[in-house]
Amino acid sequence: MDLYEAIMNRRSHRFYKPEVPPKEVLERVINAALWAPSGTNAQPWEITVLTGRFRDEFVERAAHCIAHMIPRLKAANVPEKGQELVIKFFKDLGGAPVVIAVTIFKTADPGMMEANIQSGAALMQNLLLAAHAEGLGTCWMTGPNFVAVELLDYLGKPDRHLLAITPIGYSAKEPPVPPRKEREVRWLGF
Ligand SMILES: Cc1cc2nc3c(=O)[nH]c(=O)nc-3n(C[C@H](O)[C@H](O)[C@H](O)COP(=O)(O)O)c2cc1C
Repeated sequence: MDLYEAIMNRRSHRFYKPEVPPKEVLERVINAALWAPSGTNAQPWEITVLTGRFRDEFVERAAHCIAHMIPRLKAANVPEKGQELVIKFFKDLGGAPVVIAVTIFKTADPGMMEANIQSGAALMQNLLLAAHAEGLGTCWMTGPNFVAVELLDYLGKPDRHLLAITPIGYSAKEPPVPPRKEREVRWLGF
């Protein structure tokens, strides 16, 4: 797949088929993710791939973030229907058969922590694009970070920082294309 095509056509998927993608496909996606750049080449990340009962137990705990999401959705004036959709998605991650959790090392140095978080974000984007190239859907999610302590405890990584999670699997529904804002891009000296 052409890189620009992958970037433009990747979407956040919130409805999944139950089939678990072949492990070798997931391995290719994860390998591409791991080739992301990282500050000082620290590669400060750790990936957990969950399916079966581990996926179910993790998703059940992640859904505890709904209580934190509701007041924020209301404050953001998200319409009732939109709120219902968000809650439904967070309850079961759209039925995705596999969930990937990305954690990063914590450091007391704020500058290095910033680098670690940005490095983790680069890994996430690689992962999303590689998954898309493999015909898999994903949805970068930080909503579950509201219950990061519980999720890190479940992962057995209480000393890490939960960066994000993503469901991954075959999409069951074509997602909408959220429009992009007009942004100021300045060209100086051209
Ligand atoms: C840092 C980050 C956090 C996100 N967290 C969530 C989330 O918790 N739940 C969710 O449904 N989508 C989440 N998204 C997906 C965005 O809603 C989505 O990327 C955006 O609406 C644009 O849609 P697209 O990805 O289909 O282009 C997140 C995306 C990013 C980059």
